[in-house]
Amino acid sequence: MAKKYLITSALPYINGELHIGHLVGCWLPSDVYARFCRAMGRDVLYIGGADEHGTPAMVGAWKENMPVLEYTNKYYEKHLRAVSDFNLSFDLYGRTHTELQEKLIHDLFKRLEERGLIEERETVQPFSVDDDMFLADRQLEGTCPKCGYEKARGDQCDNCSATYEADELINPRSAISGSTNIEMRKTKNLFFMASKIEGDWRKWLLQHAPKWSKTASAIAMGWANEGLHDTSITRDLKWGIPVNKPGYENKVFYVWFDAPWGYVSISQAATKDWESWWKNPDCFYAQFMGKDNVKFHSVFFPEQQLAMNDNWKTVDLLKAVNFLNFEGGKVAKSTGNGIFLDNALNIAPSDCWRYALMASAPETDDTDFTMARFIDIVNKDLNGLLGNFVSRVCKLSAKNFGEIVPNGTEIDSELANKINEKIEELTNAMEKCEFRKSIVALREIYGLANEYMTIKEPWALVKNGDLNGAGAVLNECFQLIDLFARVSSPFVPDAVAKIQNIFANEHDLSWPTKYEHRISNGEGFTVPENLFNRLELSQDE
Ligand code: MF3
Ligand code: ZN
Repeated sequence: MAKKYLITSALPYINGELHIGHLVGCWLPSDVYARFCRAMGRDVLYIGGADEHGTPAMVGAWKENMPVLEYTNKYYEKHLRAVSDFNLSFDLYGRTHTELQEKLIHDLFKRLEERGLIEERETVQPFSVDDDMFLADRQLEGTCPKCGYEKARGDQCDNCSATYEADELINPRSAISGSTNIEMRKTKNLFFMASKIEGDWRKWLLQHAPKWSKTASAIAMGWANEGLHDTSITRDLKWGIPVNKPGYENKVFYVWFDAPWGYVSISQAATKDWESWWKNPDCFYAQFMGKDNVKFHSVFFPEQQLAMNDNWKTVDLLKAVNFLNFEGGKVAKSTGNGIFLDNALNIAPSDCWRYALMASAPETDDTDFTMARFIDIVNKDLNGLLGNFVSRVCKLSAKNFGEIVPNGTEIDSELANKINEKIEELTNAMEKCEFRKSIVALREIYGLANEYMTIKEPWALVKNGDLNGAGAVLNECFQLIDLFARVSSPFVPDAVAKIQNIFANEHDLSWPTKYEHRISNGEGFTVPENLFNRLELSQDE
């Protein structure tokens, strides 16, 4: 039986416009990995979705003057649109405001309560006198108690990633009205007593985190030195999962109490076999996210999973990426800086974004993305090395031999050795989810093929009347095109579908362990339209 792979992509908040940061932060890395795993013959469950709860949706709905549910429906459609535009191969792209999610969270809460891990505490919460309401999380802004950043949110600092309780924030103000007339008022909240499972969690972390991506393990290991704090898991809000405890009728669970469990409830909606991934110790679980989500996936979610003591599958590979800036600045709709997903396809087709963004993935540091670099990558790699090779081989063959693959000879062993080395590098990088390295190896495979054709000069052989020689070289080139399809399929699925259509017979996209000849002498083919077009710098926007 094929080994099970569970792959989850962080669930973006449902508010605001989607941009290339969403693609590069979690969607593309997870999709590329899922496609790679499927090509390896693994039994993949690949899950994504929208995080509908918390204050982001409420703040967004206020701004657009809409009921929250209408607002989340509107933005969920935008998510689905992006998922289809960019060929994200989720088994299901779900959402968290569902009955399955509510049932799961209610069971989770009951279980934690039974295990003595829930405590009721009276706390003081910021109350905005002018807005006449308690302010939770992103409804509150102020200065970070850890680093002094002035635009920190009520629950989390975007500058230093610290998380804290609202009453620790310095100079608090309402994110809704801007009012600084904030009083601290008493209210009751429920706490998850994480401190009680600190030992189990630390043991778990020390076993797992060293195997994660560098960015993720560096962040997570930082938390290992701190004690686990009990965290409040309820909020005075009207939007979210209602708290299933008498006396809490006007409260909902904190968004991060329920969000990661969205992976589970969406899996439940995707397949009745969901337990064969989630409760299976032999399953391999990979999670993808931006670095600001690491704490919740290395501390909060596994803490809950361990506390349940119910054989939940915890993460084996946590892949986190840094932030992608655009043309030197932060991506923000308000300033118009960035590429937004409803417009990206007007600039270039999906494959170009997929490839170029993975080639620029901010894996080790925050990275700056520029249009000039984007165009350069597309023109050199995709249009130049990949697209032109395919079209030259097809055209030259069709002209001299008709639309059938000319007869070949034995595999060129010198070429095969060089290519095999690169396939191994590529495969190793893909296994580790090191996508920049993967692209480097992939580009080298394209480069070796181009170099082969340049050195062998099949057009010169034709000219000199050596048709057998020319045919043999072109045959080798068709084998290389078939290889291109296999190794490129996680990155540029549309181009790969076009390559597959070139050949009269079907050739599977299984991941190659080595370069081999799979195309028979005399197999029919058709000359395809260009796989890619050159982009010009003036063409942006
Ligand atoms: N909604 C969060 C964000 O956009 C991510 C949640 S990931 C989750 O930062 F899956 F854990 F929910
Ligand atoms: Zn901070």
